[in-house]
Amino acid sequence: MSSIQSLFKPFSAGPLSLPNRVVMAPMTRGFSPNGVPGEDVVAYYRRRAENGVGLIVTEGTLINHPAATDNPNIPNFHGEAALNGWAKVVEAVHQAGGKIVPQIWHVGTTRKVGSHPNPEALPIGPSGVTAEGEVVNEPLTEAEIRDLVAAYAQAAADAKRIGFDGIELHGAHGYLIDQFFWEKTNKRTDRYGGDMLSRTRFAVEIIEACRQAVGPDFPIIIRLSQWKSSEYTAKLAKTPEELGQFLAPLVEAGVDIFHCSTRRFWEPEFEGSELNFAGWTKKLTGKPTITVGSVGLDGDFMSLFTEGKGAENANVDDLASRLDEGEFDLVAVGRALLVDPAWADKVRDGRQDELIPFTPGALQTLH
Ligand SMILES: Cc1cc2nc3c(=O)[nH]c(=O)nc-3n(C[C@H](O)[C@H](O)[C@H](O)COP(=O)(O)O)c2cc1C
Repeated sequence: MSSIQSLFKPFSAGPLSLPNRVVMAPMTRGFSPNGVPGEDVVAYYRRRAENGVGLIVTEGTLINHPAATDNPNIPNFHGEAALNGWAKVVEAVHQAGGKIVPQIWHVGTTRKVGSHPNPEALPIGPSGVTAEGEVVNEPLTEAEIRDLVAAYAQAAADAKRIGFDGIELHGAHGYLIDQFFWEKTNKRTDRYGGDMLSRTRFAVEIIEACRQAVGPDFPIIIRLSQWKSSEYTAKLAKTPEELGQFLAPLVEAGVDIFHCSTRRFWEPEFEGSELNFAGWTKKLTGKPTITVGSVGLDGDFMSLFTEGKGAENANVDDLASRLDEGEFDLVAVGRALLVDPAWADKVRDGRQDELIPFTPGALQTLH
């Protein structure tokens, strides 16, 4: 019989062993002035490790490129000060018995022209266009693509050097890597654009370069989504066959775990099967997958950004039975863990009455 205890069974894949299946979803918080995570960020992640989270994926943290963000409070993943800050985060999480990977990020053409921290740096993307079709720059040159790939690989090498347990590449939500995946933002006619296989080339080169930088025994996770921040109904793959074609080169390049971003984990990805995005990805690749989307809450996170809405606590029974059936392997939890560092322990111990509902005000503080 399935029970929530299936969330608390150990997990192991290659070099990664976790005490349970609960993953903290990457969540941008903007509490790192000048890109440097400080003691409050250290304590924020330590609290999740102390309270039963199996694996922490950090907020998106930036590769070494001047147009990687449009917000100077987003943490960098380059430069001595920021990397020292991250090393303290790793140390604190490890001391508390936790595991942690950084989410490696570049926003691509979602960056607003003229924004800080580098107002002179133009947004970049495969074709220099936004999802709305606005031209903000020239298409990236091959030399610029090479430099970007090298910046991702440097981040991976630094992650290993300062003690992280792996990396997660942010390949989702319409940011740089996803802009290469998506026809709407990738209009290239060279080897980086055109059919699905060519549109995966940028990601493939990044994964290969990261693998080269970290060696065979350092987990590489990639986060993928069909949806884009600018277009929730977008789909990279309209059928399981297309999804298989999309995923195969990423597997070949060396991805260990796929993190499949959806807003409601219970929604089937394609007609004719109950499997969700993580379920299909696991079935098609044979790799472990992470599911995500409204776990433990009764409303999805888009309503936070579109309507400023919170959400009440909800039970996780359906999730647990799907986990038990092996549809996916790990479960990422976003807002429920943002508002409550002790969410995992409370769920494990059946302390439902102590769960904290998510309110938009929670974003103001590092709880
Ligand atoms: C405040 C906030 C910041 C987020 N930042 C990121 C991010 O940096 N990278 C990312 O991949 N997803 C980000 N997300 C999406 C979450 O990782 C997660 O997929 C989403 O919140 C759905 O999970 P939930 O319903 O459990 O909150 C963010 C979500 C929230 C609420």
